[in-house]
Amino acid sequence: MQELVILAPAKINLTLDVKGKRPDGYHELETIMHQISLADVVRLRRRPKGIKVVTDSSLIPVDENNLAWRAAAEFFDVIGNRGGASIYIEKRIPVGAGLAGGSTDAAAVIKGLNTMYECNLEKNEMLEIGARIGSDVPFCIQGGTVLARGRGEQMTPLHLARPLSLVLVYPGFSVSTREVYQGLADREILVRPDNRGVGEGLERGQLELVCRGMANVLETVTIDWHPEIADIKQRMMGTGAVKALMSGSGPTVFGVFRSQEAAVQTCDIIRNHYQEVFTALSWRG
Ligand code: C5P
Repeated sequence: MQELVILAPAKINLTLDVKGKRPDGYHELETIMHQISLADVVRLRRRPKGIKVVTDSSLIPVDENNLAWRAAAEFFDVIGNRGGASIYIEKRIPVGAGLAGGSTDAAAVIKGLNTMYECNLEKNEMLEIGARIGSDVPFCIQGGTVLARGRGEQMTPLHLARPLSLVLVYPGFSVSTREVYQGLADREILVRPDNRGVGEGLERGQLELVCRGMANVLETVTIDWHPEIADIKQRMMGTGAVKALMSGSGPTVFGVFRSQEAAVQTCDIIRNHYQEVFTALSWRG
């Protein structure tokens, strides 16, 4: 196979709990991660050797600082350096937004190269490569909806009874994931998610149960630095969201709605207030 086109979906965190700090400096998580229909397009083409990244976005690097570049380098290392790849990334996911945009491109490259080079790597081997690139990459390889523990690599898949109708607002600035986690250090966590309740709600298709248990312990840190995130949540609730929450370390806020019509309506109402506003559904890969 000479060429392959793959969709690389974004993720949101329906819950995010931090259980403590690990000896490796990372934080021990318990988080429900959920892929959504917003996706980058990743085009792979074989090259005899070397890795080349091209993108339509001026906001992402095209060298070894790009997670997709590093994913390809790790992949070729594992298979013994037989070959190379051109990687074209059509960016649709906002950059630095808490939506795993870089991680999902990296995951698409690992899965895509495995197919293109007919390597038959097992999923576990791809997950291992992904974990070396970034905390969210294993989930992006796994896909769907999972309860993730550890750094995010210990995953229990959740079966979704029905898709969620969502609105996402990206307010147009980035936050440093590292700094947000550091900012948690001197805080008492007052509100934690109910991961079991949310998991059950998703599997039974009970939206109220899902929304009741949703929380993100990183919100207080990011909202202290960027109070507009609280405003977005409030506006989203005011236009009919059952629940609104920040995704990951932020700054993107998503709202959960009872129907796609309600989500579209809210999107129309708030569209002009923020840099990027869009509707999404749960990813059906
Ligand atoms: O793994 P990734 O590069 O996505 O993480 C970015 C930064 O976020 C890490 O360098 C670390 O400071 C912080 N982080 C953490 N605990 C996690 C995930 C990320 O402390 N579970």
